[in-house]
Amino acid sequence: MNQLRNNERRRAAITAVAHWVPDDVLDNKYFESYLDTSDEWITTRTGIKERHILRNGAVSDLGVNAARIALERRGWTPDDIQLIICCTVTPDMPFPPTACIIQDKLGASNCWGFDLNAACCGFLYGLETASRFIESGAYDRVLLIGADKMSSIVNYNDRNTCVLFGDAGGAVILEPASGEGGIMDSYLKVDGAGREFLYMKGGGSLNPASHETVDKGWHYIYQDGKAVFKRAVVDMAEASALIMERNGLTSDDVAYLVPHQANLRILEAARERMGLTKDKVMVNIDRYGNTTSATIPMCLSEWWKAGKIRKGDNLVLASFGAGYTWGAIWVKWAY
Ligand code: UT7
Repeated sequence: MNQLRNNERRRAAITAVAHWVPDDVLDNKYFESYLDTSDEWITTRTGIKERHILRNGAVSDLGVNAARIALERRGWTPDDIQLIICCTVTPDMPFPPTACIIQDKLGASNCWGFDLNAACCGFLYGLETASRFIESGAYDRVLLIGADKMSSIVNYNDRNTCVLFGDAGGAVILEPASGEGGIMDSYLKVDGAGREFLYMKGGGSLNPASHETVDKGWHYIYQDGKAVFKRAVVDMAEASALIMERNGLTSDDVAYLVPHQANLRILEAARERMGLTKDKVMVNIDRYGNTTSATIPMCLSEWWKAGKIRKGDNLVLASFGAGYTWGAIWVKWAY
């Protein structure tokens, strides 16, 4: 558990990255129009200005659209994929796995796949899982998707949560690293004692969907924001610093912190703990809000597209979310 990787073995590398968001945007003014909230409150407490919402369609559509762009960027057809891992907390349905729906919509006929639910740490846990499949030698071509349609589980009359979330899909392709870079080290944790502070209570085997669960609003996200915030600022910063220190990385060595986008103040705490300047933190929470499993691949995709990530760059990916789940992964960019 959380042991240093043996970098003598073959390593996995990200070789394409993409994201997709729907066109519909809800800005802070929209919430002002019917809730006791303000653009000023939302901006200063969270950093969020607007979020994209998928009106028609499901999370598989967010994932498929991102995956198609990733495949095109890599120059692959869907048949090149051997394994699809879909990280999400908002699957199309409890089952079948959304990975199967994505496989079918893509027309990828040579693969297997599964879903992974680790809340806001979904993408990090997925990256760990995908890279281990490649390191083991079992697979060479993995499609990793982080996608969430948070609007499907948000109560738009609950000002504590509805202003925070948005919908988006991210996708990366992983292959064996051909050179120096790749997925270098990972530090991942859970603490299930945190499950009482951030959850969706209804619809699972504990509280199957019923008129009562719906009447009580248990099909919506519940969050004790302050409790989650207190742990997130400490644990995400500690995980990010730990991954630097145990690999001998200084703040000069790190090109970017790529943090889960839940709250600008949480990102700032991690940045300060790592000793990084502001220009070394990927931040797009202002435009998308918290898109759960999609935040980190979205950042990677935007910064890559803007030509701001270079081969050999050291990136620290970090997250904290429901569970609690948290951790950090050191990626040396390989293409
Ligand atoms: O991604 C998964 C992990 N999640 C996180 O990392 C989120 C962690 N938590 C947070 O980001 C912050 O706690 C929030 C943004 C959710 C809330 O910010 P806060 O500074 O912790 O505010 P608070 O929860 O302490 O609430 C302060 C006040 C409360 O009013 P009272 O009780 O003091 O009268 C809230 O009712 O702000 C009120 N409030 C709002 N006011 C206007 C809560 N939401 C809103 C709102 N507009 N949208």
